[in-house]
Amino acid sequence: MHESKLIIAGGSGFLGQVLARYFKTLGWEVIVFTRSPQANRVAREVQWHGETVSQWTRELEGATAIVNLCGRTVDCRYTTKNREEIMDSRMKPTRTLGEAIARCKNPPSVWLNASTATIYRHTHGPAWNESGEIGATPEAKDEFSVEVARAWEETFNTTATAHTRKVALRTAMVLGDGPNSVFPVLLRLARLGLGGRMGSGRQFVSWIHEADFCRAIEHVIARAEFSGPVNIAAPNPLTNAEMMHLFRGLVGMPFGLPASEWMLEVGAFFLRTETELIIKSRRVVPGRLLASGFQFQFERMPDALRELRMRMTGDVKCTLPLPAI
Ligand SMILES: NC(=O)c1ccc[n+]([C@@H]2O[C@H](COP(=O)([O-])OP(=O)(O)OC[C@H]3O[C@@H](n4cnc5c(N)ncnc54)[C@H](OP(=O)(O)O)[C@@H]3O)[C@@H](O)[C@H]2O)c1
Repeated sequence: MHESKLIIAGGSGFLGQVLARYFKTLGWEVIVFTRSPQANRVAREVQWHGETVSQWTRELEGATAIVNLCGRTVDCRYTTKNREEIMDSRMKPTRTLGEAIARCKNPPSVWLNASTATIYRHTHGPAWNESGEIGATPEAKDEFSVEVARAWEETFNTTATAHTRKVALRTAMVLGDGPNSVFPVLLRLARLGLGGRMGSGRQFVSWIHEADFCRAIEHVIARAEFSGPVNIAAPNPLTNAEMMHLFRGLVGMPFGLPASEWMLEVGAFFLRTETELIIKSRRVVPGRLLASGFQFQFERMPDALRELRMRMTGDVKCTLPLPAI
């Protein structure tokens, strides 16, 4: 019997490496498409640029699944140049992969393309499942990121790949211990006494533990009923104030300076990032995953944080208070 084969385009980063490790453990052949191949990472790497169809296309033949994670980080100032790079680094690889898959004799059975839970409207009301409202809100300063998300999914949806099932991954903030995860950053802030609420603290945070991210991808690949958008998020979003309370508990810090919106604006300017990443209220739940019987290992953030902290430090005594959510 042939082993299952997974291609991860843009797989050299945080999520790609986590996925590569997970699927390799399951016994899959994993191949990463990257602009800068390295020999010492988890999977075999193939060079590409994501802009034109060439030699790498043959790797797609007979693949079980392809996951496309390409995208320049959005953790930067939205200057004209950065906006262009954020947009192009998502649209071009998506378009190019569509062309390549369309040319395959034996195309991958399923194509999962990264999208984002940020596509949903800023809300303090009921949580959004996949039928939630899409759009930007001036208060959340999310006009550009919603524009990117819409264009990304539209590009994906208009690719003509008749024999390949397509799923857009509307992923929430992934918590892991890797370098591009927000977990170590928030831990550091909490340790420095800066882990207070950010802005009003009322804004919701949607999240998922990296292990559940991988398990959800496996679940979606395996089930033919999944096509179209799927929310990849834990079922219990919480508020920013609740989350920061958990981080303070995790490092045993009794206080955390709150940051008002103007302080966040100043901080974001010096850290070369945007406040939208913090102040937008993202209340997104995994409607389709739950309806299909997917069981989360980490349904609530305290359990996710405890596990990550234990993994980072080997400290098994960490006892986190559960906030009322
Ligand atoms: N991490 C999260 O919490 C999260 C949540 C929701 C959505 N997402 C989305 O999921 C995707 C992966 O996230 P991540 O955290 O793994 O990001 P990451 O660590 O920054 O990795 C991004 C990958 O994109 C590739 N890339 C960047 N610019 C590219 C370009 N111009 N052309 C082709 N490839 C390019 C890079 O590959 P090479 O440099 O090796 O070519 C890199 O491996 C991103 O699209 C992100 O927006 C992430």
